[in-house]
Amino acid sequence: MKKKFINKKSKLSLLFIVFSIFTIFGCTPENNQSTFGTAGPIASSQADLFILIFAIAVVVFIAVEAALIYISIKFRRREGDKLPYQTHGNKKLEITWTIIPAVILIFVAVPTLVGIWSQQNGVPDDKGQVLNIEAVGHQWWFEFRYSDYEVITSNELHIPKGRPVSFKLSSQDVIHSFWVPKLAGKVDMVPLNDNYIWMIADEVGEFYGQCAEFCGTSHAHMRFRVFVHEEEDFLAWVDQMHTPADPPMPNTPESRGQMLFAANCSMCHTNNSTTPGSYIMEINTQDARWNNWVDDTENSALVSAPNLTHFGTHTTLGSGIKELNHENLVEWIADPSTIKQGTRMQKQAMVYNTRDGKANLTDSEISDIAYYLLSLKPGSGAEMVVDDIPSDGLIDAEAVFATNCAACHSLGDDVIVGPGMGGIKDRAGDRVSGLSAYEYIYESIVEPQAYIVEGYPPVMPAWASLGDETVNALVEYLLTLE
Ligand code: CUA
Repeated sequence: MKKKFINKKSKLSLLFIVFSIFTIFGCTPENNQSTFGTAGPIASSQADLFILIFAIAVVVFIAVEAALIYISIKFRRREGDKLPYQTHGNKKLEITWTIIPAVILIFVAVPTLVGIWSQQNGVPDDKGQVLNIEAVGHQWWFEFRYSDYEVITSNELHIPKGRPVSFKLSSQDVIHSFWVPKLAGKVDMVPLNDNYIWMIADEVGEFYGQCAEFCGTSHAHMRFRVFVHEEEDFLAWVDQMHTPADPPMPNTPESRGQMLFAANCSMCHTNNSTTPGSYIMEINTQDARWNNWVDDTENSALVSAPNLTHFGTHTTLGSGIKELNHENLVEWIADPSTIKQGTRMQKQAMVYNTRDGKANLTDSEISDIAYYLLSLKPGSGAEMVVDDIPSDGLIDAEAVFATNCAACHSLGDDVIVGPGMGGIKDRAGDRVSGLSAYEYIYESIVEPQAYIVEGYPPVMPAWASLGDETVNALVEYLLTLE
């Protein structure tokens, strides 16, 4: 019986050793999430500090174990030994074993404190022009706001090589942690308490990011990618982010997908943050969606969601989980839980309000949406679609509404972010004395802040950029809604 127990124990130890060896392989510098294959000064100073502390720990370990083994053998109990002389308190010994650890701790503390001081006080002035990015944690994806360039994106971060990047870290829901193992160590993303981290990348390439704080079911699936470019390539990327996608050709899967996207996805996903003003609009809208969800978590059909501008240029989907291609995207749209459990999209969005939680769309509709999303890439640089007046002079106001307004306004009574547009002609005339229904709607489009209806968030951007003729067409279209 006793023998069997020992066997089981040694088997377990063997298993543990084998398991440990396999885990250690994760530390090889080539591994995507290894902290040893550093690609920037912050990460390498942190790795150096780790190696210094590890070396000290190894010396202490060997000294203590050697002493322990030596003493256990030399002074082991022998046949006929008497109880050894009992002692209590020895000043010399106690002073020695207090001083030695204190000295060791000083050796550890000095470089640690130097490291903390140099990294926690913001970017030093001599490092060059700082790129400022606000990174926001969400369950379970990352939002990146480039305040310097009015660019907004999600899950794939682009930064220039050799330039310091300063991150303001926050969270909209629970505590997450921002970590790019090869570029800089982790800092928590805490709701209502901004934290900061900065880094410099010394190499062009693709690096892995990972949420490093348990934040719910899909914590392990909350990843992101960092693409480091030469400065000029980075600026070209910024330029591309400001270039609208070309509109899909009529009667293609992409054009059908665009309509389906407008009807089913655009309340939460913005996909056209390319124009001036669209940056602040997206931030306000994202906040409005978040507040909407917080106010009525059970019934809200709105949640904050990744900005999909130029999504077709991404390499991954589901925040770094799968390669981005048509097949995977179809799988994701049809039933997100097959790729990531517990997404708010599947829980809250109307289109997933089905018995089995799968999208209320046909296979071909899902395929069309996927083709449309994959087509979202910087276009030929032509003017915004809405400025293009067709040669016959007719503006398709319904399409203008679908692309620009449907994210916040329904065509019926439903409130999305703003009021539903159904029957607006009956209400608009009484809103402001002296303004006809036509004038009131027109003014509300070009200067909405003047006429925010009580009870709605003041988040609507001014749409004067649509051009006078398009706004007029839009007003006439809205006046026909019952
Ligand atoms: Cu976010 Cu773990």
